[in-house]
Amino acid sequence: MQQEGAAHFEVGKAFFRVSSQMGRDLAVLAAIAYKQTHSHLRILDAMTGCGVRPLRYALEAKADYVWANEGNEELSACLQANLSQALLPERYRLTHQDANAVFFDCYQRQDFYDLIDIDSFGSPMPTLSTALWAVKLGGLMYLTSTDGRATSGRAPDSSLKTYGAWARSHPAVHEQGLRLLIGAVAQQAAAKGLVAQPVFSFYNGEVNRAMVRITRDSSWLSDRFGFLAYCHSCGQFQPASWQKLGRIVCPCATDEPLSVSGPMWLGPLHNQADLAAMQRHALEREWPICQSLIATMQAEADLPPYFYPLAEIGRRGKMDIPPRSDLIDLLRQNGFVATRTHFSSQAIKTNAPIADCIRLAHLLAQQAPPASLAN
Ligand SMILES: C[S@@+](CC[C@H](N)C(=O)[O-])C[C@H]1O[C@@H](n2cnc3c(N)ncnc32)[C@H](O)[C@@H]1O
Ligand SMILES: [Zn+2]
Repeated sequence: MQQEGAAHFEVGKAFFRVSSQMGRDLAVLAAIAYKQTHSHLRILDAMTGCGVRPLRYALEAKADYVWANEGNEELSACLQANLSQALLPERYRLTHQDANAVFFDCYQRQDFYDLIDIDSFGSPMPTLSTALWAVKLGGLMYLTSTDGRATSGRAPDSSLKTYGAWARSHPAVHEQGLRLLIGAVAQQAAAKGLVAQPVFSFYNGEVNRAMVRITRDSSWLSDRFGFLAYCHSCGQFQPASWQKLGRIVCPCATDEPLSVSGPMWLGPLHNQADLAAMQRHALEREWPICQSLIATMQAEADLPPYFYPLAEIGRRGKMDIPPRSDLIDLLRQNGFVATRTHFSSQAIKTNAPIADCIRLAHLLAQQAPPASLAN
């Protein structure tokens, strides 16, 4: 028997990763916040595996009703046992259909859900546009993608097929993976007259997760769905709008063409009000690792759509890797916004140009005592 949060369950032959707990914890916190605001919470977990998510949504976020769907019928007995030992029959439903059939069925019956969870292998794109038919207006969709090869620039054709976007290689590809995913949701939602905006976004090494809120309003902003250009000569990133395509130049005036990726989401990675609510619930539950992660998300939420690895600053400045917190402090003292980022413990997010990061890192290196005296 496994335990995670308030859920006890057998995994059996289901796909289950203990290491994905943080992604589930964050979703539970967002669901708790949703339930508090809306006083109702009906969940559709379209690819449930062993059923850990419906159990946690029901037991911890007090979801009124959870629909657990799992395409693999062989998991039926295990799932039925897991759900029935914790939930009354009227509080859940278990089905074994293709997720797309479930979403169409919801639409057909006008049975819309507050939170749709799609924990797919690869990318969620084959089910994304249909899921938009099943989500309640103002509700949430939690998406997972594990196609890092496509979004890191190593297989740009795969990225083009999946996301309708070209992915190039550069030092911030982890963030690019999330932004391609969110951008695709934003565009698909917009095509239906809807708006998708991130509640939070989370990269954890091999998996991208984005919780988005779906609304119907007129807040489509073209400058939030555009391109990211990277200069291999000097290391500078810049977001680029559709209008600027073809006229993007790097301040270093290199003759080298810039690497341009996109279109992708260029807006905030997280919503500050949602993070504040999630942080309150993490504090109440005494989940320190979540608290620290959410604090980092709060700090990075509104910064430019890329990060600088410290190793990149060191390599370009031909110096040792600068200490992260010292460099962040010095950037702030020099009037820039700078913070750690959840994408890497060895990277910073800042609105400072890379040239300033390198210049200030040099200053730090000069101030540092010689290695022989440092201890
Ligand atoms: C990554 S696992 C789910 C893990 C689970 N959500 C968790 O947190 O432990 C993905 C599951 O989705 C199921 N699946 C894949 N494609 C599906 C589809 N199109 N419709 C329904 N289920 C699907 C697979 O059988 C698998 O059990
Ligand atoms: Zn340049």
